[in-house]
Amino acid sequence: MADLAFPPDFVWGTATSSYQVEGGWNEDGKGASIWDTFTHTPGKIANDENGDVAVDHYHRWKEDIRLMAELGLKAYRFSTSWPRILPEGYGKVNKKGLDFYDRLVDNLLAHGIEPYVCLYHWELPQALQDKGGWPERKTVDYFADYAAVLAKRLADRVEIWFTHNEPFIAATSGYFAGEHAPGIRNPLAAFKAGHHLLLSHGLAAAAIRAHAKKAVKIGITLNLNPVHAATDSKKDREAARRFDIILNRSFLDPLLKGTSPLEEIPFARRLVSQIIRPGDLEIIHTLDILGVNYYTRAVIRHDPKFPVIAASEVHPAGNEYSGMWEIYPQGIHELLLRIWNDYHPKAELMVTENGVPVPDGLDADGRVRDERRIRYIKSHLEQVRLAIKDGVPVKGYFVWSLMDNFEWALGYEQRFGLIYVDFKTQKRIVKDSGWWYTRVIRGEGGL
Ligand code: FCB
Repeated sequence: MADLAFPPDFVWGTATSSYQVEGGWNEDGKGASIWDTFTHTPGKIANDENGDVAVDHYHRWKEDIRLMAELGLKAYRFSTSWPRILPEGYGKVNKKGLDFYDRLVDNLLAHGIEPYVCLYHWELPQALQDKGGWPERKTVDYFADYAAVLAKRLADRVEIWFTHNEPFIAATSGYFAGEHAPGIRNPLAAFKAGHHLLLSHGLAAAAIRAHAKKAVKIGITLNLNPVHAATDSKKDREAARRFDIILNRSFLDPLLKGTSPLEEIPFARRLVSQIIRPGDLEIIHTLDILGVNYYTRAVIRHDPKFPVIAASEVHPAGNEYSGMWEIYPQGIHELLLRIWNDYHPKAELMVTENGVPVPDGLDADGRVRDERRIRYIKSHLEQVRLAIKDGVPVKGYFVWSLMDNFEWALGYEQRFGLIYVDFKTQKRIVKDSGWWYTRVIRGEGGL
Protein backbone atom coordinates (compact mmCIF):
# COMPACT_ATOMS: atom_id res chain seq x y z
CA MET A 1 0.00 0.00 0.00
CA ALA A 2 2.82 2.41 0.89
CA ASP A 3 3.65 3.49 -2.68
CA LEU A 4 -0.04 4.12 -3.27
CA ALA A 5 -0.36 6.51 -0.33
CA PHE A 6 -0.78 10.25 -0.84
CA PRO A 7 2.19 12.43 0.10
CA PRO A 8 2.17 13.35 3.83
CA ASP A 9 1.80 17.08 3.12
CA PHE A 10 -1.05 16.55 0.63
CA VAL A 11 -3.69 19.28 1.12
CA TRP A 12 -7.15 17.84 1.79
CA GLY A 13 -9.95 20.35 1.50
CA THR A 14 -13.43 21.27 0.41
CA ALA A 15 -14.71 24.23 -1.58
CA THR A 16 -17.71 26.56 -1.67
CA SER A 17 -18.45 29.94 -3.22
CA SER A 18 -19.96 33.05 -1.70
CA TYR A 19 -23.14 33.33 -3.76
CA GLN A 20 -23.86 29.62 -3.45
CA VAL A 21 -23.70 29.49 0.37
CA GLU A 22 -23.80 32.90 2.02
CA GLY A 23 -27.28 34.35 1.60
CA GLY A 24 -27.56 37.75 3.30
CA TRP A 25 -27.87 39.13 -0.20
CA ASN A 26 -28.71 42.69 0.85
CA GLU A 27 -27.46 42.73 4.42
CA ASP A 28 -24.97 45.01 6.16
CA GLY A 29 -24.46 47.27 3.17
CA LYS A 30 -23.84 44.64 0.49
CA GLY A 31 -24.43 45.85 -3.07
CA ALA A 32 -26.28 43.83 -5.71
CA SER A 33 -24.36 41.40 -7.89
CA ILE A 34 -25.25 40.21 -11.38
CA TRP A 35 -26.47 36.98 -9.74
CA ASP A 36 -28.94 38.91 -7.56
CA THR A 37 -30.34 40.58 -10.65
CA PHE A 38 -30.35 37.39 -12.72
CA THR A 39 -32.00 35.16 -10.13
CA HIS A 40 -34.63 37.82 -9.44
CA THR A 41 -35.62 37.75 -13.11
CA PRO A 42 -38.43 35.21 -13.60
CA GLY A 43 -37.67 32.23 -15.80
CA LYS A 44 -33.88 32.23 -15.45
CA ILE A 45 -33.43 29.64 -12.67
CA ALA A 46 -35.07 26.25 -12.07
CA ASN A 47 -38.20 26.83 -9.96
CA ASP A 48 -37.28 30.54 -9.89
CA GLU A 49 -35.03 29.87 -6.92
CA ASN A 50 -32.28 32.24 -5.81
CA GLY A 51 -29.38 32.70 -3.41
CA ASP A 52 -31.06 35.33 -1.20
CA VAL A 53 -30.75 32.99 1.77
CA ALA A 54 -28.82 30.08 0.22
CA VAL A 55 -27.56 28.01 3.17
CA ASP A 56 -27.30 31.04 5.42
CA HIS A 57 -23.55 30.71 5.81
CA TYR A 58 -23.37 34.49 6.35
CA HIS A 59 -24.92 33.83 9.77
CA ARG A 60 -23.93 30.21 10.38
CA TRP A 61 -20.25 30.45 9.49
CA LYS A 62 -19.10 29.56 13.00
CA GLU A 63 -21.09 26.34 13.05
CA ASP A 64 -19.83 25.56 9.54
CA ILE A 65 -16.20 26.02 10.56
CA ARG A 66 -16.78 23.80 13.59
CA LEU A 67 -18.06 21.09 11.26
CA MET A 68 -15.03 21.51 8.99
CA ALA A 69 -12.77 21.02 11.99
CA GLU A 70 -14.72 17.94 13.06
CA LEU A 71 -14.26 16.53 9.57
CA GLY A 72 -10.52 17.08 9.87
CA LEU A 73 -10.21 19.34 6.81
CA LYS A 74 -6.81 20.87 6.26
CA ALA A 75 -7.96 23.63 3.94
CA TYR A 76 -11.11 25.47 2.89
CA ARG A 77 -11.46 27.17 -0.46
CA PHE A 78 -14.10 29.90 -0.40
CA SER A 79 -14.77 33.05 -2.37
CA THR A 80 -15.28 36.62 -1.33
CA SER A 81 -18.25 38.54 -2.65
CA TRP A 82 -17.00 41.61 -4.52
CA PRO A 83 -20.19 43.68 -3.96
CA ARG A 84 -20.21 42.78 -0.26
CA ILE A 85 -16.86 44.55 -0.02
CA LEU A 86 -17.31 47.22 -2.68
CA PRO A 87 -21.07 47.72 -3.17
CA GLU A 88 -20.54 49.78 -6.34
CA GLY A 89 -17.61 47.65 -7.52
CA TYR A 90 -15.07 50.39 -6.75
CA GLY A 91 -14.63 53.36 -4.48
CA LYS A 92 -16.26 53.19 -1.08
CA VAL A 93 -15.39 50.08 0.94
CA ASN A 94 -18.13 48.43 3.00
CA LYS A 95 -16.40 47.85 6.32
CA LYS A 96 -18.94 45.30 7.54
CA GLY A 97 -18.40 43.19 4.43
CA LEU A 98 -14.65 43.19 4.87
CA ASP A 99 -15.05 42.39 8.59
CA PHE A 100 -17.04 39.27 7.72
CA TYR A 101 -14.15 37.75 5.76
CA ASP A 102 -11.65 38.90 8.37
CA ARG A 103 -13.51 36.94 11.06
CA LEU A 104 -13.88 33.95 8.77
CA VAL A 105 -10.13 33.83 8.14
CA ASP A 106 -9.25 34.22 11.83
CA ASN A 107 -11.67 31.51 12.84
CA LEU A 108 -10.42 29.10 10.17
CA LEU A 109 -6.84 29.64 11.27
CA ALA A 110 -7.81 29.16 14.91
CA HIS A 111 -9.17 25.75 13.91
CA GLY A 112 -6.01 24.85 11.99
CA ILE A 113 -7.73 25.15 8.60
CA GLU A 114 -5.81 26.93 5.84
CA PRO A 115 -7.93 29.56 4.05
CA TYR A 116 -7.76 29.41 0.25
CA VAL A 117 -9.32 32.70 -0.80
CA CYS A 118 -10.82 33.11 -4.27
CA LEU A 119 -11.64 36.67 -5.33
CA TYR A 120 -14.12 35.94 -8.07
CA HIS A 121 -16.59 33.13 -8.18
CA TRP A 122 -18.86 35.01 -10.60
CA GLU A 123 -20.24 37.78 -8.39
CA LEU A 124 -19.66 40.86 -10.50
CA PRO A 125 -21.18 43.95 -8.87
CA GLN A 126 -24.30 44.89 -10.84
CA ALA A 127 -23.06 48.49 -10.92
CA LEU A 128 -20.08 47.33 -13.02
CA GLN A 129 -22.25 45.26 -15.32
CA ASP A 130 -24.24 48.45 -15.87
CA LYS A 131 -21.00 49.99 -17.13
CA GLY A 132 -20.47 47.09 -19.57
CA GLY A 133 -19.22 44.26 -17.35
CA TRP A 134 -16.37 41.95 -18.35
CA PRO A 135 -16.49 42.77 -22.09
CA GLU A 136 -15.47 46.30 -21.02
CA ARG A 137 -11.69 46.61 -20.57
CA LYS A 138 -11.98 49.07 -17.69
CA THR A 139 -13.41 46.29 -15.49
CA VAL A 140 -9.92 44.80 -15.15
CA ASP A 141 -8.71 47.90 -13.31
CA TYR A 142 -11.64 47.79 -10.90
CA PHE A 143 -10.85 44.12 -10.23
CA ALA A 144 -7.21 44.90 -9.45
CA ASP A 145 -8.34 47.64 -7.02
CA TYR A 146 -10.70 45.18 -5.33
CA ALA A 147 -7.83 42.68 -5.03
CA ALA A 148 -5.71 45.39 -3.39
CA VAL A 149 -8.45 46.18 -0.84
CA LEU A 150 -8.63 42.51 0.18
CA ALA A 151 -4.90 41.97 0.21
CA LYS A 152 -4.36 45.01 2.44
CA ARG A 153 -6.76 43.50 4.94
CA LEU A 154 -6.07 39.77 4.71
CA ALA A 155 -2.63 39.20 3.21
CA ASP A 156 -0.98 39.38 6.62
CA ARG A 157 -2.63 35.99 7.33
CA VAL A 158 -3.77 34.53 4.02
CA GLU A 159 -1.04 32.91 1.96
CA ILE A 160 -3.00 31.25 -0.85
CA TRP A 161 -4.98 33.48 -3.22
CA PHE A 162 -7.01 32.53 -6.26
CA THR A 163 -8.00 35.31 -8.60
CA HIS A 164 -10.73 33.61 -10.62
CA ASN A 165 -12.88 30.52 -10.61
CA GLU A 166 -13.53 29.08 -14.07
CA PRO A 167 -13.16 32.15 -16.29
CA PHE A 168 -14.31 29.99 -19.21
CA ILE A 169 -17.73 29.53 -17.58
CA ALA A 170 -17.94 33.17 -16.51
CA ALA A 171 -17.30 34.24 -20.11
CA THR A 172 -19.28 31.64 -22.05
CA SER A 173 -22.25 30.84 -19.81
CA GLY A 174 -22.55 34.52 -18.88
CA TYR A 175 -21.96 36.29 -22.21
CA PHE A 176 -22.35 33.67 -24.96
CA ALA A 177 -24.98 31.11 -23.89
CA GLY A 178 -26.75 33.48 -21.51
CA GLU A 179 -27.57 30.67 -19.10
CA HIS A 180 -25.69 32.36 -16.27
CA ALA A 181 -25.66 35.96 -15.12
CA PRO A 182 -25.66 38.46 -16.73
CA GLY A 183 -27.56 36.41 -19.34
CA ILE A 184 -26.04 37.95 -22.48
CA ARG A 185 -25.79 36.11 -25.83
CA ASN A 186 -23.08 37.67 -27.91
CA PRO A 187 -19.96 35.79 -29.10
CA LEU A 188 -17.83 38.92 -29.40
CA ALA A 189 -18.74 39.95 -25.84
CA ALA A 190 -17.80 36.47 -24.63
CA PHE A 191 -14.36 36.59 -26.28
CA LYS A 192 -13.72 40.00 -24.80
CA ALA A 193 -14.91 38.84 -21.38
CA GLY A 194 -12.62 35.80 -21.52
CA HIS A 195 -9.58 37.92 -22.31
CA HIS A 196 -10.39 40.59 -19.73
CA LEU A 197 -10.89 37.97 -17.01
CA LEU A 198 -7.41 36.66 -17.76
CA LEU A 199 -5.90 40.12 -17.93
CA SER A 200 -7.47 40.98 -14.58
CA HIS A 201 -5.85 37.85 -13.13
CA GLY A 202 -2.41 39.25 -13.97
CA LEU A 203 -3.16 42.71 -12.62
CA ALA A 204 -4.76 41.36 -9.45
CA ALA A 205 -1.76 39.08 -8.88
CA ALA A 206 0.51 42.14 -8.95
CA ALA A 207 -1.81 44.05 -6.62
CA ILE A 208 -1.92 41.21 -4.08
CA ARG A 209 1.86 40.79 -4.14
CA ALA A 210 2.31 44.54 -3.67
CA HIS A 211 0.16 44.61 -0.52
CA ALA A 212 1.04 41.27 1.04
CA LYS A 213 2.84 41.32 4.37
CA LYS A 214 3.94 37.70 3.97
CA ALA A 215 4.93 35.44 1.08
CA VAL A 216 1.83 34.72 -1.00
CA LYS A 217 0.99 32.28 -3.76
CA ILE A 218 -1.29 33.36 -6.58
CA GLY A 219 -3.47 30.82 -8.28
CA ILE A 220 -6.39 30.53 -10.66
CA THR A 221 -8.87 27.69 -11.01
CA LEU A 222 -9.86 26.49 -14.46
CA ASN A 223 -12.56 24.05 -15.51
CA LEU A 224 -10.65 21.70 -17.79
CA ASN A 225 -11.84 18.60 -19.58
CA PRO A 226 -10.13 16.03 -21.72
CA VAL A 227 -11.74 16.49 -25.13
CA HIS A 228 -12.52 13.37 -27.15
CA ALA A 229 -13.84 13.22 -30.72
CA ALA A 230 -17.25 11.53 -31.03
CA THR A 231 -16.00 9.44 -33.96
CA ASP A 232 -12.71 8.98 -35.74
CA SER A 233 -13.82 11.05 -38.74
CA LYS A 234 -11.58 13.93 -39.75
CA LYS A 235 -14.43 16.40 -39.22
CA ASP A 236 -15.10 15.25 -35.66
CA ARG A 237 -11.41 15.23 -34.81
CA GLU A 238 -11.04 18.78 -36.13
CA ALA A 239 -14.12 19.85 -34.15
CA ALA A 240 -12.63 18.32 -30.99
CA ARG A 241 -9.41 20.23 -31.62
CA ARG A 242 -11.32 23.53 -31.93
CA PHE A 243 -13.26 22.81 -28.78
CA ASP A 244 -10.06 21.95 -26.93
CA ILE A 245 -8.58 25.30 -27.95
CA ILE A 246 -11.60 27.25 -26.70
CA LEU A 247 -12.11 25.31 -23.48
CA ASN A 248 -8.60 24.39 -22.40
CA ARG A 249 -5.80 26.00 -24.35
CA SER A 250 -7.16 29.55 -24.54
CA PHE A 251 -6.69 29.65 -20.76
CA LEU A 252 -3.71 27.34 -20.22
CA ASP A 253 -1.52 28.82 -22.98
CA PRO A 254 -1.67 32.48 -21.82
CA LEU A 255 -1.29 31.59 -18.14
CA LEU A 256 1.50 29.02 -18.51
CA LYS A 257 3.25 30.09 -21.73
CA GLY A 258 2.28 33.70 -22.34
CA THR A 259 0.85 32.86 -25.77
CA SER A 260 -2.65 32.73 -27.24
CA PRO A 261 -3.98 29.88 -29.40
CA LEU A 262 -6.98 31.87 -30.65
CA GLU A 263 -5.28 32.55 -33.99
CA GLU A 264 -5.95 28.89 -34.76
CA ILE A 265 -9.73 29.43 -34.82
CA PRO A 266 -10.98 31.25 -37.94
CA PHE A 267 -13.73 33.22 -36.16
CA ALA A 268 -11.46 34.18 -33.28
CA ARG A 269 -8.49 35.04 -35.51
CA ARG A 270 -10.27 38.15 -36.72
CA LEU A 271 -10.87 39.25 -33.16
CA VAL A 272 -7.47 38.73 -31.65
CA SER A 273 -6.01 42.04 -32.73
CA GLN A 274 -9.16 43.86 -31.59
CA ILE A 275 -9.10 42.32 -28.13
CA ILE A 276 -5.55 41.39 -27.13
CA ARG A 277 -3.29 44.42 -26.88
CA PRO A 278 0.52 44.34 -26.98
CA GLY A 279 1.82 43.48 -23.51
CA ASP A 280 -1.38 41.79 -22.30
CA LEU A 281 -0.06 38.24 -22.57
CA GLU A 282 3.03 39.11 -20.51
CA ILE A 283 0.75 40.45 -17.76
CA ILE A 284 -1.37 37.28 -17.76
CA HIS A 285 1.64 34.97 -17.75
CA THR A 286 2.07 34.75 -13.96
CA LEU A 287 0.97 31.83 -11.80
CA ASP A 288 2.03 30.00 -8.64
CA ILE A 289 -0.84 27.52 -8.41
CA LEU A 290 -2.94 26.03 -11.18
CA GLY A 291 -6.23 24.81 -9.73
CA VAL A 292 -7.98 22.18 -11.81
CA ASN A 293 -11.74 21.76 -11.50
CA TYR A 294 -12.68 18.39 -12.93
CA TYR A 295 -16.12 16.82 -13.23
CA THR A 296 -16.34 15.05 -16.60
CA ARG A 297 -14.90 14.79 -20.11
CA ALA A 298 -16.17 16.44 -23.29
CA VAL A 299 -17.11 14.30 -26.30
CA ILE A 300 -17.35 16.48 -29.39
CA ARG A 301 -18.71 16.18 -32.90
CA HIS A 302 -18.65 18.44 -35.92
CA ASP A 303 -21.83 20.52 -35.88
CA PRO A 304 -22.13 23.31 -38.49
CA LYS A 305 -25.25 24.64 -36.75
CA PHE A 306 -23.33 25.55 -33.61
CA PRO A 307 -22.06 29.15 -33.80
CA VAL A 308 -18.36 30.13 -33.74
CA ILE A 309 -16.74 26.70 -33.39
CA ALA A 310 -19.09 24.44 -35.40
CA ALA A 311 -18.73 21.83 -32.70
CA SER A 312 -21.10 20.50 -30.08
CA GLU A 313 -21.15 17.97 -27.26
CA VAL A 314 -22.64 14.49 -27.45
CA HIS A 315 -23.44 12.24 -24.53
CA PRO A 316 -22.22 8.77 -25.35
CA ALA A 317 -23.96 5.75 -23.88
CA GLY A 318 -22.11 3.18 -21.85
CA ASN A 319 -20.91 4.99 -18.75
CA GLU A 320 -22.77 6.01 -15.62
CA TYR A 321 -24.25 9.53 -15.56
CA SER A 322 -25.04 11.83 -12.64
CA GLY A 323 -27.89 14.36 -12.69
CA MET A 324 -25.53 16.65 -14.61
CA TRP A 325 -22.67 14.83 -16.33
CA GLU A 326 -21.11 11.59 -17.52
CA ILE A 327 -19.03 9.98 -14.78
CA TYR A 328 -15.56 9.46 -16.23
CA PRO A 329 -12.89 9.05 -13.50
CA GLN A 330 -10.01 8.18 -15.83
CA GLY A 331 -10.40 11.65 -17.36
CA ILE A 332 -8.78 13.30 -14.34
CA HIS A 333 -5.67 11.18 -14.82
CA GLU A 334 -5.57 11.92 -18.55
CA LEU A 335 -6.00 15.64 -17.88
CA LEU A 336 -3.34 15.93 -15.18
CA LEU A 337 -0.85 14.05 -17.35
CA ARG A 338 -1.65 16.19 -20.33
CA ILE A 339 -1.08 19.43 -18.40
CA TRP A 340 2.19 18.08 -17.07
CA ASN A 341 3.47 16.81 -20.41
CA ASP A 342 2.35 19.77 -22.52
CA TYR A 343 3.33 22.58 -20.16
CA HIS A 344 5.65 21.30 -17.43
CA PRO A 345 4.23 24.10 -15.29
CA LYS A 346 6.35 25.74 -12.64
CA ALA A 347 3.06 26.45 -10.89
CA GLU A 348 1.90 23.90 -8.33
CA LEU A 349 -0.98 21.70 -9.44
CA MET A 350 -4.06 21.12 -7.32
CA VAL A 351 -7.49 19.67 -7.91
CA THR A 352 -9.57 22.58 -6.60
CA GLU A 353 -12.99 21.04 -7.35
CA ASN A 354 -14.27 17.53 -7.91
CA GLY A 355 -17.57 16.07 -6.83
CA VAL A 356 -20.94 14.74 -7.89
CA PRO A 357 -24.59 15.68 -7.43
CA VAL A 358 -26.67 12.96 -5.78
CA PRO A 359 -30.40 13.15 -4.95
CA ASP A 360 -29.66 12.62 -1.26
CA GLY A 361 -32.25 12.27 1.44
CA LEU A 362 -32.44 11.30 5.08
CA ASP A 363 -32.96 7.64 5.94
CA ALA A 364 -35.38 6.73 8.76
CA ASP A 365 -32.53 6.86 11.29
CA GLY A 366 -31.51 10.34 10.18
CA ARG A 367 -28.41 9.27 8.28
CA VAL A 368 -27.59 10.17 4.69
CA ARG A 369 -26.13 7.10 2.99
CA ASP A 370 -24.66 8.69 -0.13
CA GLU A 371 -22.78 5.67 -1.37
CA ARG A 372 -22.69 6.95 -4.92
CA ARG A 373 -20.73 10.04 -3.84
CA ILE A 374 -18.23 7.90 -1.95
CA ARG A 375 -17.80 5.76 -5.06
CA TYR A 376 -17.35 8.84 -7.23
CA ILE A 377 -14.76 10.54 -5.01
CA LYS A 378 -12.91 7.29 -4.37
CA SER A 379 -12.63 6.46 -8.06
CA HIS A 380 -11.38 9.97 -8.85
CA LEU A 381 -8.87 9.95 -5.99
CA GLU A 382 -7.52 6.66 -7.28
CA GLN A 383 -6.89 8.36 -10.62
CA VAL A 384 -5.22 11.35 -8.94
CA ARG A 385 -2.99 8.96 -7.05
CA LEU A 386 -2.13 7.23 -10.30
CA ALA A 387 -1.17 10.59 -11.82
CA ILE A 388 1.12 11.25 -8.84
CA LYS A 389 2.66 7.82 -9.32
CA ASP A 390 3.18 8.70 -12.99
CA GLY A 391 5.21 11.73 -11.93
CA VAL A 392 2.68 14.59 -11.81
CA PRO A 393 3.25 16.53 -8.58
CA VAL A 394 -0.38 17.08 -7.53
CA LYS A 395 -0.36 18.94 -4.21
CA GLY A 396 -3.95 18.83 -3.06
CA TYR A 397 -7.57 17.89 -3.62
CA PHE A 398 -10.76 19.79 -2.76
CA VAL A 399 -14.20 18.21 -2.78
CA TRP A 400 -16.99 20.26 -4.28
CA SER A 401 -18.67 20.91 -1.97
CA LEU A 402 -18.48 21.25 1.79
CA MET A 403 -22.27 21.36 1.94
CA ASP A 404 -25.33 21.28 -0.29
CA ASN A 405 -25.93 24.70 -1.83
CA PHE A 406 -27.39 26.80 -4.63
CA GLU A 407 -26.32 25.24 -7.93
CA TRP A 408 -26.64 28.28 -10.23
CA ALA A 409 -29.24 27.88 -13.02
CA LEU A 410 -30.27 24.53 -11.54
CA GLY A 411 -31.32 26.00 -8.20
CA TYR A 412 -31.36 23.68 -5.19
CA GLU A 413 -32.11 20.43 -6.97
CA GLN A 414 -28.53 19.23 -7.31
CA ARG A 415 -26.92 18.36 -3.98
CA PHE A 416 -23.11 18.27 -4.02
CA GLY A 417 -22.28 18.44 -0.30
CA LEU A 418 -20.41 16.22 2.10
CA ILE A 419 -22.84 17.84 4.52
CA TYR A 420 -26.57 17.60 3.94
CA VAL A 421 -28.51 20.83 4.39
CA ASP A 422 -32.23 20.89 5.07
CA PHE A 423 -32.99 24.01 3.04
CA LYS A 424 -36.09 24.81 5.13
CA THR A 425 -34.58 24.60 8.61
CA GLN A 426 -30.90 25.06 7.62
CA LYS A 427 -30.03 22.05 9.73
CA ARG A 428 -26.68 20.47 8.78
CA ILE A 429 -26.12 16.69 8.84
CA VAL A 430 -22.79 15.17 7.87
CA LYS A 431 -23.39 12.57 5.15
CA ASP A 432 -21.69 9.18 5.12
CA SER A 433 -19.34 10.61 2.47
CA GLY A 434 -18.23 13.30 4.93
CA TRP A 435 -17.17 10.78 7.59
CA TRP A 436 -15.63 8.62 4.88
CA TYR A 437 -13.56 11.63 3.70
CA THR A 438 -12.38 12.14 7.28
CA ARG A 439 -10.98 8.61 7.30
CA VAL A 440 -9.20 9.27 4.01
CA ILE A 441 -7.70 12.52 5.35
CA ARG A 442 -6.50 10.78 8.48
CA GLY A 443 -5.03 7.93 6.44
CA GLU A 444 -7.32 5.50 8.22
CA GLY A 445 -8.55 3.74 5.10
CA GLY A 446 -11.44 4.41 2.78
CA LEU A 447 -9.37 4.18 -0.39
C1 FCB B 1 -18.33 24.36 -11.02
C2 FCB B 1 -18.46 25.64 -10.22
C3 FCB B 1 -19.05 25.44 -8.86
C4 FCB B 1 -20.15 24.41 -8.85
C5 FCB B 1 -19.71 23.14 -9.55
C6 FCB B 1 -20.73 22.06 -9.56
O1 FCB B 1 -18.34 24.67 -12.37
O2 FCB B 1 -17.21 26.25 -10.06
O3 FCB B 1 -19.51 26.69 -8.40
O4 FCB B 1 -21.30 24.92 -9.39
O5 FCB B 1 -19.35 23.43 -10.86
